[in-house]
Amino acid sequence: MKTNIIYNENCFDTLKRMEDDSVDIVITSPPYNMNLRIRNGQYCSRQIVKEFSTKYNEFSDNIPIEEYYEFHSKVIEELLRVSNIIFYNIQIVTGSKRAFFKIIGKFADQIKDVVVWDKCTAQPAMAKNVLNRQYELIIIFDKTNAISRQFKKCNFGRGTLNDVWHIKRERKTANANHGATFPEALVETILENFSNPNDIVYDPFMGTGTTAIVSKRMNRRWIGSEISKDYIKLSNERLKNCQLV
Ligand SMILES: C[S@@+](CC[C@H](N)C(=O)[O-])C[C@H]1O[C@@H](n2cnc3c(N)ncnc32)[C@H](O)[C@@H]1O
Repeated sequence: MKTNIIYNENCFDTLKRMEDDSVDIVITSPPYNMNLRIRNGQYCSRQIVKEFSTKYNEFSDNIPIEEYYEFHSKVIEELLRVSNIIFYNIQIVTGSKRAFFKIIGKFADQIKDVVVWDKCTAQPAMAKNVLNRQYELIIIFDKTNAISRQFKKCNFGRGTLNDVWHIKRERKTANANHGATFPEALVETILENFSNPNDIVYDPFMGTGTTAIVSKRMNRRWIGSEISKDYIKLSNERLKNCQLV
């Protein structure tokens, strides 16, 4: 498959064309289902008024919790087919919580470890009596050797890499209208420690292109999928302006 390209399509369409074990590492942050809420003890979807929200043109980020669980199960199964190692960044919010705890149970045999990404300052809770959220999780899946916490492929010495990463959120990428972009330092930390130059990195939810930009800078090849045309455009502009070191 052609590399150094972000396909403007649903990630399942890209994955269908990918051969087994054709990718060295997956780094991704899937949609968090931010617009699924609880009212009177029941799930309900926040209504999106498309005219006022360019952000939710292609997807509404409010699917029923069971559908969200099925979606992630299928994505992770496909990712494990194409790659041995997956860094899957999740945030526990109302619309994702139940699904992700079920995912952790379902894939217990493929989960190698979990990193806590400490964002250094908390995002204030959306409602009273709710904890402010300061962390996200990075679930590390390993297809062949998850029983062990030892990484077959890594570049850090014994005792040098902790499982809590203190990395500040980045200001919103210019014109992105995207509240959930990766800080470049997060992708750098993963690539530096778990991949090598020329490796192929896949991000099925490329958003504003952070995984591609850091891959390019660190001399890795990349493949991305992203359903939003606007984000693809922005990613391509960022890629064009990205300085190689
Ligand atoms: C949390 S954001 C990723 C942000 C990204 N890490 C960055 O740094 O910009 C998730 C992205 O997935 C995209 N998306 C949602 N469903 C998708 C699907 N089925 N296939 C491909 N992209 C999808 C959304 O448009 C959104 O940009």
